[in-house]
Amino acid sequence: MLNKLRLWKNQNNSSILRDKIEEIKKSPIPEHVAIIMDGNGRWAKKRALPRIAGHHEGMKVVRKTTMLANDLGIKTLTLYAFSTENWKRPKNEVDYIMKLPEEFLGTFLPELIENNVQVKMMGYKNQLPEHTLRAIEKAMKETKNNDGLVLNFALNYGSRAEIVDAVKQVLNDCQNGKLKESELTEQIFSSYLMTAEFPDPDLLIRTSGEIRLSNFMLWQLAYSEFWFTDVLWPDFSEEHLLEAVEVYQKRQRRFGGI
Ligand code: FPP
Repeated sequence: MLNKLRLWKNQNNSSILRDKIEEIKKSPIPEHVAIIMDGNGRWAKKRALPRIAGHHEGMKVVRKTTMLANDLGIKTLTLYAFSTENWKRPKNEVDYIMKLPEEFLGTFLPELIENNVQVKMMGYKNQLPEHTLRAIEKAMKETKNNDGLVLNFALNYGSRAEIVDAVKQVLNDCQNGKLKESELTEQIFSSYLMTAEFPDPDLLIRTSGEIRLSNFMLWQLAYSEFWFTDVLWPDFSEEHLLEAVEVYQKRQRRFGGI
C-alpha cells in the first residue's frame, strides 16, 4: 500500500508540492473537510462544451482531492455531489450525474482500496436510480474494513429535510418512551442526523465564487471555518486544497469563547 502511495505521489506531486505537504502536516490538520463542488457547468460553458463535460472533469478532481486528503491525514472528506434540489435540472444532466458514481468507482475503486479509503454515502437513497445505489453500496461493502480516509458522498442530500426528519424521529422516540424530552441535548440531536457517526466539519470549502451554503450541512457547519474560492471545481487542484488547509491552520477557532 505504501509503495502505491509513493508511486501516486511521484506521478502527481512535484517536489515543491511534496515539501509543502510535509510542512502542512506539522500543524493540526482539519479532521473533517466538507466541499461544495461548484462550477462544473460554467467550466464547460467557457469551453463551449456541454455541461456534462464539466461534471466529468469534476469527477477527475474528486479522485485527486481524495488522494491528497488521505495523504494529508484528513479523516473524513464529505463531498456535495447532488442535492435534493438538483432533480430540477434537465433530465439528461441528472441522468449523467447519476452515472458518475458508477464510472468513478468502476475506475478508481481498486485505487481507493489500495490506499485504505472507506467509501460512505449520506442522502436519501430511495430516490436514487438502482444502478447508482448499487455502485455505491458495492464500494461501501468492499471498503468497510478500511480505516484510512472516509470519502463520504452527499448524494440526494438536503440539510433542511435531514433536520425535519431528525425532529420527526425525536418526537417518535419521545412518544414511544425511548427518549425523554428533558434528555434532548445538541449532542443527542446530532445523533439523529445522517452525520451521526462523524464529527462536525472543521473546514468547509466552496468553489466557483458562490458564497452560500445551498442547503448543505446547516446544523453541522455551525462552528466550521469557511474557505471560498473563485476557482471552478474542475480547475480545483492540489495547491488549492493545500492553500485552504493552510488558511484553516492560521484561523483561531473560538467556538463562541474569547
Ligand atoms: C455543481 O456545479 C455540481 C454538481 C451539482 C455536480 C457535482 C458532481 C461532481 C463534481 C462529480 C461527482 C463525482 C462523483 C464520483 C459522484 P454546477 O453544475 O451547478 O456548476 P455551475 O454553477 O457552473 O452551473
